[in-house]
Amino acid sequence: MLKVNNLNLHYGASQALYDVSIEAEAGKVTCVLGRNGVGKTSLLRAVSGQHIGSSGEITWNGQSILKMSPQERAKKGIALVPQGREIFSQLTVLENLQTGFSAIPRSQRNIPDEIYSLFPVLREMLKRRGGDLSGGQQQQLAIGRALVTRPKLLILDEPTEGIQPSIIKDIQSVIAHLRNQGEMAILLVEQYFDFAKALADEYSVMDRGQIVLSGKGSDMDEEKVRGLMSV
Ligand SMILES: Nc1ncnc2c1ncn2[C@@H]1O[C@H](COP(=O)(O)OP(=O)(O)O)[C@@H](O)[C@H]1O
Ligand SMILES: [Mg+2]
Repeated sequence: MLKVNNLNLHYGASQALYDVSIEAEAGKVTCVLGRNGVGKTSLLRAVSGQHIGSSGEITWNGQSILKMSPQERAKKGIALVPQGREIFSQLTVLENLQTGFSAIPRSQRNIPDEIYSLFPVLREMLKRRGGDLSGGQQQQLAIGRALVTRPKLLILDEPTEGIQPSIIKDIQSVIAHLRNQGEMAILLVEQYFDFAKALADEYSVMDRGQIVLSGKGSDMDEEKVRGLMSV
């Protein structure tokens, strides 16, 4: 289980997160919503290790990970699907998937068949270059690459951004399926309300570096949340 407790985070002198607390547990989707620039990605960076929080605490299964490197966190089962996907455009689909191998022991370095059953298009396109895929296909590849590490905490940063509706539906089913297996905690950042509403077991809304509203996904007040997300 992930616990973020009173996390503060700075970029130089400028503070991006103020006393942020959230939790994510196996078999559940924790969704973080908020408009652009409120600190969603900063929170995910602090959890995955790309940027180290200044104070507060982040624990994963009881152990502090606040200061750990991204590589150490990856070895502990934490995987990030970054905003904008960050697919290597010159590498093939297979090679992109294999970049996940560095986080796992040599004996496990294969692509689980499940990834191809979740995203059949990836099997069809194994030899194509990442840069030749559509945005939606790249998003599926980015999720597949994270799943190669068999994560226990899957973090997704705006997976629907710039993606065609049919693929958004597919991605929604995949996230629901992974959650329903019960083994994985999912931390999802979104600005697309309906997608978040459909998946969230727990939700938090951020504004200006703080959590301003949170609760159970089933209790999400659409008007209130949309109000906090509109510019
Ligand atoms: N690398 C960085 N250096 C300095 N400021 C940053 C950096 N990344 C983000 N910020 C600032 O931190 C704030 C939160 O950004 P971010 O976490 O990307 O928000 P969101 O993901 O909600 O759009 C913004 O004011 C942004 O300009
Ligand atoms: Mg962001």
